[in-house]
Amino acid sequence: MIIRSLLASAAMASLLALSSPVAAQTDPLAPTGRWSIPERAQARTPPMGWNSWNAFRTQVDEAKVMGAAKALVDSGLAKLGYTYVNIDDGWWLKRRSSDSRLEIRTAIFPSAKVAGRDTSFRPYTDQLHRMGLKAGIYTDIGRNACSQAYDLHSPNLPEGTAAEREVGLHGHVDQDIALYFQEWGFDYIKVDACGIDVYGPGTALVREQGYRPLTPLIDQAAISRTDTPAVRALYEQVAQALKAHNPDGDYVLAICNWGSADVRSWGKNVGHLWRTSGDITPTWTRMLHNFDSASTRALYAKPGAWNDPDILFIGHGDFDQAHLTEARSHFSLWAMINAPLLISYDLRQAPRALMDIWGAADIVRLNQDPGGHQGVIAYASDDVQIIVKTLSNGKKAVALFNRGLAETRVTLTAAQMKFAADAPIALRNLWDATPPTSFVGETDFTLAPRQTLVFEASGARQLADGVYLSEIPGDVNVAVDGVIAPQPDPLVHRMRNAWGETRGSGERPTYAGWGGAQADATPYDQSLRVSGRSFDTGLGVLTNSRIEVRNAGHARFEAKVGVDDSTLNTKDKARFLVYGDGKLLAQSPPMGFGQAAQPLSANIKGVKIVEIVARSERLSTDLPLVVTWAEASLRR
Ligand code: GLA
Repeated sequence: MIIRSLLASAAMASLLALSSPVAAQTDPLAPTGRWSIPERAQARTPPMGWNSWNAFRTQVDEAKVMGAAKALVDSGLAKLGYTYVNIDDGWWLKRRSSDSRLEIRTAIFPSAKVAGRDTSFRPYTDQLHRMGLKAGIYTDIGRNACSQAYDLHSPNLPEGTAAEREVGLHGHVDQDIALYFQEWGFDYIKVDACGIDVYGPGTALVREQGYRPLTPLIDQAAISRTDTPAVRALYEQVAQALKAHNPDGDYVLAICNWGSADVRSWGKNVGHLWRTSGDITPTWTRMLHNFDSASTRALYAKPGAWNDPDILFIGHGDFDQAHLTEARSHFSLWAMINAPLLISYDLRQAPRALMDIWGAADIVRLNQDPGGHQGVIAYASDDVQIIVKTLSNGKKAVALFNRGLAETRVTLTAAQMKFAADAPIALRNLWDATPPTSFVGETDFTLAPRQTLVFEASGARQLADGVYLSEIPGDVNVAVDGVIAPQPDPLVHRMRNAWGETRGSGERPTYAGWGGAQADATPYDQSLRVSGRSFDTGLGVLTNSRIEVRNAGHARFEAKVGVDDSTLNTKDKARFLVYGDGKLLAQSPPMGFGQAAQPLSANIKGVKIVEIVARSERLSTDLPLVVTWAEASLRR
């Protein structure tokens, strides 16, 4: 027992250290009365625009980028929201030895050749701004970038001595951020992480290319060999520099460490978006992989903070002109889960059929809905998924997704959309102009292989006087998720090795986040169930979790609380507490396994931030205790 409680307190201490590096002494479950995601002026809806990488890799140049920018404006895509024009890897020449200032490769960005000895992107960003667009730049959190490891045959790699080729932020955060944002006028920065991943001492890469080694902080194959607090601290430093150098808040920070270092849990606190997986490739199963890495993380996204399953690959490979069903599915899925919509194709010569996909205004609109509620998986399987997203006009967007190669029949129910089963539901197909249809209770569809149907649905809400928390993930923040030891998320589709071959024994993605809070499912993706009673809706969490909920005008919080039947810890008890703006409003008695879910309600009239906390009464085992806030809702 003593060992056990030591274990628990050690676990709690590490949880404290992780959740708040500055105030390590405070209780992470204590109510704060505030929304702990920084208020961000930008990316209130998922960023949209264009990125050079999937189109050109390092063979990027000014004509290509400006061609894309012009096409965005001329085609009307810019008006639809595609405003960020982002240069990826490949733009740099070197870091000048005299003063460490970065130099641009003017052979590919001629406008950067300005009078004097410096180079400058200011003429380039001025031009984009004149076009009504915004400008994005790319860097790395380490000393060296990804191309310097993976694109060794590129003609556009940084040149010179080892120090001159250190074009990443490491050791230069303040100088570089000031240069990018104050002097050059960028609005968006993607910060990659190869520099803290593959430049370890003794590696062939470092030896053969003559780079200065940097002991890796990331091991993509092992969560325990990754220094999560150190990775987070580096990105926090960038976030602080961005804030300092952009007093108007006009910047976007895109964290690109490919789902490593548990970023799927903390990315929202540090950046506007964070990659949830490795790079997308133009193959169907890799698209599934990237989609899965973000689709179960609805409660972690919200205005100003988005899961990023990577830029779009529409126009290439399995998503090219000859595969429009797949291309539309890719686009629909990204839209439904509030992924950034960044086109990565040579827009100077884009066929109409592709332009029509990026330009599908109704699909874009659902992605850009101001509520910022990521779609939630209402029906889960490896074959078919139904995803439902709450829109701010009270309607729902619903996607029926056939992941496989067989035609398949799909039944959509009113309950899956949290609509009443006895009132008519209207469906408007968002991919074509067919007249709306209507049904009561449930309706059937036949989906072609790899097809996604997307509808806007209107009906009578199941909850006439309020909203379930799982319907409004954009207003829910998982401040502390109770995960003690981050584990790989097994829900992510395992495609064959990303670059096609089948040597070795296969890739095992090690994105942490398993056990994180989920909408309408337990943290380990079981259906919600307390003492034999199933619940369609609710939040599934581990104990020692604290969740913040924004309240605009609701008067009551209601839930039925209990230990979930799926828990492997059947010994311990949990207490459920509800706070309003920092004050305790209601709490349950200690609840154990097998006890029926108990109603818990609180008066939240006038309360701005509701916090719901599930606390372990004691931890007699190191097995996590799975609990359910069943039917958690805000009522009028
Ligand atoms: C990494 C990133 C990609 C791209 C390349 C550039 O692989 O994940 O998105 O930026 O680097 O080298």
